[in-house]
Amino acid sequence: MPFRSLFVAIVLGFGIVVSAFLINRQRPKVETEQPSAGHRKVRRVPLQPDLASAVTDKWPDYARAQVAMKQVCTQCHTTPLVNEVYARAEKVVEDTNAKVKEAQAIMDGLRKDGVLTGPPFSHPIDFVYFDLWRYDGRTAKHGAFMGDADFVQWHGNYPMPSKLVELRAAGDELRGQHGRGN
Ligand code: HEC
Repeated sequence: MPFRSLFVAIVLGFGIVVSAFLINRQRPKVETEQPSAGHRKVRRVPLQPDLASAVTDKWPDYARAQVAMKQVCTQCHTTPLVNEVYARAEKVVEDTNAKVKEAQAIMDGLRKDGVLTGPPFSHPIDFVYFDLWRYDGRTAKHGAFMGDADFVQWHGNYPMPSKLVELRAAGDELRGQHGRGN
């Protein structure tokens, strides 16, 4: 009977469409706010302090940005864990700033006294200083905000003092050569 089969086919098809609609309604809604041409009003908030700089300063939106970032973390972690990670990371930033400033002072002193001359990166000591803030310092700071002790310690806190010793020794040697009129 062609009419009966057609009727069954229509009922089945309608049933499938309605079920698909009902199942789709149950899906959790995900809101995304990507800055794009269609969302020009979305304001981009930097989520971390400026960890890329040699010495990290807090910017004006810092507190608000940190609250926003913590909201991301607390989707998976408990608030105490996230607060602990951030509190420790802030200390790592302070500590790294102090080490970098110490290194800066050594380099500035050498240049000021005319011991270190010439264009940037013309002496081995320039590279030691650069690596100290650009690689070790940044690694410690970024590692801290991800709660990664290995990066903070072995790729940041350990090489920084080691390079400070190297800087002082190289600086003393340069001063010695300078004194001898070289
Ligand atoms: C999508 C879920 C998710 C989000 C969002 C998330 N994490 Fe995690 N995090 C995990 C998982 C899963 C692990 C465990 C990974 C493992 O052990 O291999 C983890 C591990 C960690 C650990 C190591 C914990 C430990 O006991 O060793 C820290 C610290 C951490 N996350 C911090 C953060 C911070 C800070 C943020 C926000 C910037 C964040 N997480 C965002 C899922 C998440």
